[in-house]
Amino acid sequence: MSLQESAPSLAVVGVTGAVGQEFLSVLSDRDFPYSSVKMLASKRSAGKRVAFDGREYTVEELTADSFEGVDIALFSTGGSISKEFGPRAAERGTIVVDNSSAFRMVDGVSLVIPEVNPEAMKGIKVGTGKGALIANPNCSTIICLMAVTPLHHHAKVKRMVVSTYQAASGAGAAAMEELVQQTREVLAGKPPTCNIFSQQYAFNLFSHNAPITENGYNEEEMKLVKETRKIWNDTEVKVTATCIRVPVMRAHAESVNLQFENPLDENTARELLRKAPGVYIIDDRASNTFPTPLDVSNKDDVAVGRIRRDVSQDGNFGLDIFVCGDQIRKGAALNAVQITEMLL
Ligand SMILES: NC(=O)c1ccc[n+]([C@@H]2O[C@H](COP(=O)([O-])OP(=O)(O)OC[C@H]3O[C@@H](n4cnc5c(N)ncnc54)[C@H](OP(=O)(O)O)[C@@H]3O)[C@@H](O)[C@H]2O)c1
Repeated sequence: MSLQESAPSLAVVGVTGAVGQEFLSVLSDRDFPYSSVKMLASKRSAGKRVAFDGREYTVEELTADSFEGVDIALFSTGGSISKEFGPRAAERGTIVVDNSSAFRMVDGVSLVIPEVNPEAMKGIKVGTGKGALIANPNCSTIICLMAVTPLHHHAKVKRMVVSTYQAASGAGAAAMEELVQQTREVLAGKPPTCNIFSQQYAFNLFSHNAPITENGYNEEEMKLVKETRKIWNDTEVKVTATCIRVPVMRAHAESVNLQFENPLDENTARELLRKAPGVYIIDDRASNTFPTPLDVSNKDDVAVGRIRRDVSQDGNFGLDIFVCGDQIRKGAALNAVQITEMLL
């Protein structure tokens, strides 16, 4: 039991959503110490009951007064709600760890993957009475950089080309329901119901549903580009991405092509990945066994495989890898809870 009087008071904001529910499971799994916890969501959910740590809690409507006496708030409500309530909570002394893209690129807001750039927390601590905004990176960025950063530290990435295969869960609880419903409908010979996505998702795949920006990339792709630069504190690194939504229920996969400034051979890369925290290797060429979304679903660690020299580049300056990670867990809730642990 992690209920302790001297521990911080928590609020889980967006508790009824896919990430919100995962917050509860991660907090409980990691025995996170807390003195009290508020369960917050929209007006629609007020009064619903949620179970946490062997107790039942009533969901309350998120309002401007919700953060009175709250030390740490874990937000997963989407950008507009975060923008409305996050800064107000921080002004009142709450440390906000936000899962949306609202503050990620704002100067002065830490964008943190604890295994990659813990130094970005810049001494933010609970118990000082000072609030703060901390941003959780995009799920595809977290999963990619968990695997690539150990290689980057060794050989310095010059250019990175990422192709993603993103699961329904990345678009929230309603998108997961839509995939199940459409699968049933298509198998029954009925036209699929499209509410969350504009086109058929079951037995199909399509370019990520994020809006297309002026340069032709969609917002999800540009997050990989910009967030990598901020997290690595490297404005020079070249990143390009193509993000695709695939009909997988949970956990993202990413194919990553790397060009390095310094040589890095396959075996050294394997050694570096073997030692990297939060990463494990599935790379059995003999049996053609490599990472899959199912391998990492509900798991904390990111799996890496298909580790091979890029034959299109001279010498040992290029590598291809394939990465899978549970984006609700390491890509969202777990990463945020790890950040929160660093605050204690
Ligand atoms: N899913 C992922 O893998 C993932 C990964 C990284 C980041 N994120 C980000 O995390 C955020 C949430 O994602 P999700 O997948 O958990 O979405 P979701 O399943 O749709 O859940 C959204 C949550 O926000 C709440 N909410 C909506 N409007 C609200 C309002 N006006 N006031 C208070 N609460 C409100 C919802 O409450 P009701 O149930 O009451 O509507 C629900 O609890 C998004 O910014 C998303 O981009 C998601």
